[in-house]
Amino acid sequence: MNVPVNRALADRMAAMMALDTTSLADGTYRQPVSDYADSAHLERERDILFRRQPLIVAASSELEKPGDFRTTDIDGVSALIVRQADGSLRAFHNVCRHRGTRVVDEESGCKPTFTCKFHAWVYGADGSLRHVPMADAFGGVDKNAHALVPLPVAERFGLVWLGPLVGPAVDIDAFLGPIAPVLADLAIDKGGVFRFLRFTEETNWKLIVDTFLELYHLRHLHAKTVGRFVDGRAMVQESHGQHGRFRAPRKSFEAVDQATLTDDLFDEHVIDVIRVFPNAIVIWNRDHVEFWTALPDRGDPDRCIVRLWLISPERNVADADRERWDKNWDITYGTVRAEDFPMARTIQKGFHGGAQDHVVFGRNEIGLHDFHAALKRAMATAGG
Ligand code: FES
Ligand SMILES: [Fe+2]
Repeated sequence: MNVPVNRALADRMAAMMALDTTSLADGTYRQPVSDYADSAHLERERDILFRRQPLIVAASSELEKPGDFRTTDIDGVSALIVRQADGSLRAFHNVCRHRGTRVVDEESGCKPTFTCKFHAWVYGADGSLRHVPMADAFGGVDKNAHALVPLPVAERFGLVWLGPLVGPAVDIDAFLGPIAPVLADLAIDKGGVFRFLRFTEETNWKLIVDTFLELYHLRHLHAKTVGRFVDGRAMVQESHGQHGRFRAPRKSFEAVDQATLTDDLFDEHVIDVIRVFPNAIVIWNRDHVEFWTALPDRGDPDRCIVRLWLISPERNVADADRERWDKNWDITYGTVRAEDFPMARTIQKGFHGGAQDHVVFGRNEIGLHDFHAALKRAMATAGG
């Protein structure tokens, strides 16, 4: 990654650190509890945010050579994404055109063709129907009319977006807009997935995203873990259309002679947290990138599906470096799992107890204002 020289940004961080403050919103923000706990609200979100928007579902490097595939589930839709011989990606409903069986069960792999396990209809990487056993029994099946059903897929900056699942096509470049150069800077396309994990959590999907959007909790909840590396003061918030971003100093920032802080050095001393609408967080953390997505688990507002990718700057981590990367994984995943998500679980439970009808975001929790205001705008625009 190459963060451009931003003297003004470094100066702003230093000034805020001296005052023990951070970017501040104009006022506090009242966030309705029902947005997290209400099934009817989730139904509107599923339609507006998850079926009608492109969503990050993979890293490009997982799909490197022709035949490399990945399956994923979005809102009950099972999708199959496959690298084509010409280098492009295609995506399909992972549903057999004979009787509807899921064609591919594996989460990832490499195959020249995909054979349905039920009656062995065979599909090509391009989704075409290649072979039907006992084809005569189908009166000479029209193969062209029985290809896998395509889904929109796009690839930018080493990330893969799937969807929208329904409704009008979305131009991915227009969708990303001002966040595009920020993502491009991360060079995710040059890296490789060190580890990927998918798990369910007993919280609303938005609480997973909320976890990453304020540093107010760092000194308290993470005093013995990431709070030792990241300062918690002086986050500098930016809105990028419906996406958002903040940068914040690591502990090491304060000790650096500011006069000598160059381009190359700057990114050593900050974290960069990028929120990609509607449900992804991409984090630059000195020597690696991690990205998280959170999706509702069908119609249950109290459950979500979380996915995490840890990206190393090189395609494949050398054996000698694995221990260091295992440590990176433990800090990334271990801390969030052991410290943050338990908070989210108790919050979600509490939402159903009737204690309050809203929660409050402080002026210092500006990333939460930015996220929830973007959701609110999208829901309002769609008539939700
Ligand atoms: S359902 Fe797939 S081959 Fe019959
Ligand atoms: Fe945290």
